[in-house]
Amino acid sequence: MLVMIADLLSANEVSHLCEKMRHVNYVDGRTTAGREARPVKQNKQVSRTDPQLVEMQKLIRDRLMGNDLFRMAVRPKTIVPPLFSSYEQGMAYGSHVDNSIMKGVRTDVSVTIFLSEPDQYEGGELVIESTAGEQEIKLAAGSAVTYPTTALHRVAPVVSGERLAAVTWVRSFVRDAAQREILFDLDTARHRLFAQLGKTSEMDLLAKTQSNLLRRWVED
Ligand code: NI
Repeated sequence: MLVMIADLLSANEVSHLCEKMRHVNYVDGRTTAGREARPVKQNKQVSRTDPQLVEMQKLIRDRLMGNDLFRMAVRPKTIVPPLFSSYEQGMAYGSHVDNSIMKGVRTDVSVTIFLSEPDQYEGGELVIESTAGEQEIKLAAGSAVTYPTTALHRVAPVVSGERLAAVTWVRSFVRDAAQREILFDLDTARHRLFAQLGKTSEMDLLAKTQSNLLRRWVED
């Protein structure tokens, strides 16, 4: 399940991060890639030792944890410290799968937060590959997409301009993507029904079912 989160960051927060990204130190993105991803990864990442990085990472994590849609779709337990990347003209990240453990954390859900507006660069789509085909994603600055870390994916070559983005990974309380989707659908339906009908005995049964499914599937 892919979930798009519009306006995860405000316009001010996006400009704040982009401004910081103009003044920080970068390293070659291959330093954080797994063995098989390394040969196809071509981007720049904000250096782990840059003094600005901790505040930038905190902003992303705070906004994710404060977002209702994110929490419903992802059921986050731990968020890996985000990476900030820049793709300049000609840069790309070929087809790869992300590491299954990062910083000691199992990665269940990947998150890309777009920081450049789509008209600031050509190409640079995030392409998620599945048996049902490919999905190209390019969102407004400040918006995010979440997708299962189990998927092969790539970043298409940037033809012109610069693509700034933050990426992170989440250990979910619910490991299985199909189970997360069932819980998400139930939650969504319950919220809509509650808005129409208020608290009824049927709503109580739905709430009980959802709570008991979560209890069955959760890993704490
Ligand atoms: Ni990746």
